[in-house]
Amino acid sequence: MSSEQELAKLSYATAPLINCPIPGPKTAEYLQGSFDNESMARGGGKFPFVFSEGKGATVKDPDGNVLIDITAGVAVNSVGRCHPRVVAAMTEQMNSLMHASDISNVRRTELAQKVAGIMPPGLRNNCISYFTQGGSGAVETAIKFVRKITGRNQIVAFHGAYHGVWCGCNSLTTGDQYRKGYGPFIPGVIHLPYPYCYRCCFGLSYPSCEMRCAQYVDYVLNTPYTGADDVGAVIIEAQQGEGGYVPPPPEYLPMVKKACEKHGALYISDEVQAGAGRTGKMWCIEHSGVEPDMITWGKGMGGDMPMAGLTIRKDLAALIDDHSQPNTFAGNAVTSVACMTNIDILTENDQALIKRAAVLGEEIKDRIREGAKKTRIIGDVRGNGLMIGIEMVEDKQSRVPLGRDDVGKIIMGMLARGMIMVPCGRFGNVFRFMPPLVITREHAMKACDILLETAAEI
Ligand SMILES: Cc1ncc(COP(=O)(O)O)c(C=O)c1O
Repeated sequence: MSSEQELAKLSYATAPLINCPIPGPKTAEYLQGSFDNESMARGGGKFPFVFSEGKGATVKDPDGNVLIDITAGVAVNSVGRCHPRVVAAMTEQMNSLMHASDISNVRRTELAQKVAGIMPPGLRNNCISYFTQGGSGAVETAIKFVRKITGRNQIVAFHGAYHGVWCGCNSLTTGDQYRKGYGPFIPGVIHLPYPYCYRCCFGLSYPSCEMRCAQYVDYVLNTPYTGADDVGAVIIEAQQGEGGYVPPPPEYLPMVKKACEKHGALYISDEVQAGAGRTGKMWCIEHSGVEPDMITWGKGMGGDMPMAGLTIRKDLAALIDDHSQPNTFAGNAVTSVACMTNIDILTENDQALIKRAAVLGEEIKDRIREGAKKTRIIGDVRGNGLMIGIEMVEDKQSRVPLGRDDVGKIIMGMLARGMIMVPCGRFGNVFRFMPPLVITREHAMKACDILLETAAEI
């Protein structure tokens, strides 16, 4: 399913459709109920929107406002919300088996086989999967497995990295809001610069930099007296997500992989956000040709259902003890079916939907770059497929990050016009276009116009 007419049927026909200022009266009541009873440590904090219904790349609030969802539930709803095929498959499954416990069930076994078949080279049909309910659990498991497999206890992660917020994975994650006051973290974590070319920490420009950042990874891993003598794994996002939707230059990941091999460290590609077709390839690592030893995945794989996992090479998996990592809800039959249906929709017709994401992503970037010429505050437009970052600045020359107040005003302006936007980045100043892959071209272009119109008001 990828013609525009067919895709249009998955979403509400008219979006945005604003009946009343957001939050309207019913929404306000739910918000109060939520603020009074839920922990605001949650990711969305007090964002003044309440989801009531969702269809494709569009959502409704309790007051009947219809919005374009450019966030896909933070890169989750790749095939759109409530996809009819996913709903039908889940409904059928719900009548036969749901929870099984942490042993085999028919659907979970089928899923493990399906996942093996869609892995990138190196892992494809040569891997073992461990299922979790979210990305944090997948990364947490990766940390534990790396220790056992390698007998080493150091892990390299990167500035701007987000790998979840449990105790182990939070130690790999950066960002004051997740860390300050919550330490101490697990020992042995070394953070190195991610290749964020727009704000290169070495003050260099690509390509004349000759990949100083990748050389630095090699230097730290493979030079005596750097303190990195016992590194079991390097964990890296093939395009950084929460850290600002930052794609690395093409040479970077292959150079990191070589540095890992020299040191004897495993290479973990964290694909929780960038995987499942989002960047125009099934796995973001496929843009680089690097063969990872492990992949952590989640978000878009489960879509509407909480399903994530760690997939690792078979020879490495053989070194993990049986019964060493139980997980009560792993591989629930209904979530397994949802995940398999998502995979089918993403990969059928020679990955038509994923290939469309690559093309549509270029069109979105072109549209925003064109509009950016008329404003001083859009500094950089970057990313692969439908994982697009738009970095907002005070002005293009200074590149000073746009202040939080102005960022907040634009987000509220977009919400008022009928579009949900969740920012990211080390300064909270990067807007991210991460819509469902099934978004229509019309909705995608409308979303670009809303962003440009709203930004022009600052
Ligand atoms: C790259 C990456 N890894 C891990 C996680 C953690 O996933 P979850 O929130 O499902 O635990 C995220 C979440 O945003 C992520 O982007």
